[in-house]
Amino acid sequence: MRAARAKRSALCCKNWTPEQRGQALCRLYGRLCSLFAALREILVWRRLNTLPALDKERASCFCFRKVAKFTRLGIFELSKGQRMNDISAGPLVSALPFPTLVIGSDQKVIHANAAAAELLGGQVVNQNFVFLLRQPGLIAAIEDAAATLEKRVGKFATTAGRSEVRFDVHIAPADGNLVLTFEDTSEAKDLASFRRDFVANVSHELRTPLASVVGFIETLRGAARDDAAARDRFLDIMEREASRMAVLVDDLLSLSRVEESERKRPTTEVDIAMLANSALKQLDPLITAAKATVTFEDQGQGVKVLADEGQMRQVIGNLVENAMRYGAPAGNITVGIYGPAYERRLRQEAIRLSVRDEGEGIAAHHLPRLAERFYRVDSHRSREVGGTGLGLAIVKHIVHRHRGHLLIESIEGKGSTFTVILPVSDVKPALS
Ligand SMILES: Nc1ncnc2c1ncn2[C@@H]1O[C@H](COP(=O)(O)OP(=O)(O)OP(=O)(O)O)[C@@H](O)[C@H]1O
Ligand SMILES: [Mg+2]
Repeated sequence: MRAARAKRSALCCKNWTPEQRGQALCRLYGRLCSLFAALREILVWRRLNTLPALDKERASCFCFRKVAKFTRLGIFELSKGQRMNDISAGPLVSALPFPTLVIGSDQKVIHANAAAAELLGGQVVNQNFVFLLRQPGLIAAIEDAAATLEKRVGKFATTAGRSEVRFDVHIAPADGNLVLTFEDTSEAKDLASFRRDFVANVSHELRTPLASVVGFIETLRGAARDDAAARDRFLDIMEREASRMAVLVDDLLSLSRVEESERKRPTTEVDIAMLANSALKQLDPLITAAKATVTFEDQGQGVKVLADEGQMRQVIGNLVENAMRYGAPAGNITVGIYGPAYERRLRQEAIRLSVRDEGEGIAAHHLPRLAERFYRVDSHRSREVGGTGLGLAIVKHIVHRHRGHLLIESIEGKGSTFTVILPVSDVKPALS
């Protein structure tokens, strides 16, 4: 008796949890969609069968314009014998590299290639295009193309991971069907906005030192013309601002060179521990000037990586320079080589080169954007120490060229560790 009551109470929707209610709503929505599709098809067929001059073939092909009058969801105007050859269309669609669909005269997808299945999620063939695409603008464009038998272009947007992917959908009537091809336009749009941001950032970075130089020239020509002490001070500032611009131009050129070479993987085998050691020796004057202590830990077992020596020196230089700038003043910095070990991210054996400082650390929300061009945690501080905000962007591009990964870990108040993970070369370490 009690069990029966409990069962009844579980069935009563008043006792459902919000999660159960959500699931039930989803199920109901799915069933309503199928019911709606079935009803519409029945309606279309009934209308067709009442059309006076409708021959069997036209009926089977859903004569588009006439059906459109009745259903406002019609598909194609077909003349006799005007049907896409199903046997040849399938392989043709499959061979295309971009998402492609063929919608038949019954509003259902008759062909779809693997790219389309991936984009639209699994089962695509035999699905009604309205329920498959679900984007009103695109559905209207398809109906318009079908009604006018003219090409149309619609828009389709979806999400891949956290970013939005946008497509131009080219709709072309062909042999009584509609062929839809999806052209990914997100990259072109991203590139355009990236260029705009880049130009804005570079101009912003150049504007301040330029304005200061122009201002001091005017002062030197006017009020400070005969003031020797002021002249020397202003000339010092002008020199500093001019060298800041020169550093920015150098960094921009360096970044563009790295980007240019990014597709070509380095081919020279380099003992990364030896290279790190010699790079640190080169940095000795800077380390001494910063009164920092750099400890070198070599646990790399003489493993070699395919690397561009000059670029790897630049990586070590930029990371150690940052550790000196933003780490604790006169603090301890550890540069280490560890591995080799299997790296899940690279799906192969790799070696880790890390630079660790004991500075104030970086708040977690900055970490994902830290290697973007011109991104700084504290712009004022970075500019004061002569930073351009490009150092880590250069590091990231160099690491990508080496098919590696840049890992940034930081704990506020304790310090930061920048780790470069590099795939090891296939050559076995030399026996000593
Ligand atoms: N070790 C570190 N500890 C704390 N913050 C850091 C560290 N390394 C980098 N940062 C932060 O990341 C920002 C970006 O560093 P990045 O090296 O790209 O530029 P920068 O040092 O400002 O200029 P530069 O182009 O001269 O290197 C820095 O401005 C700083 O705020
Ligand atoms: Mg830097």
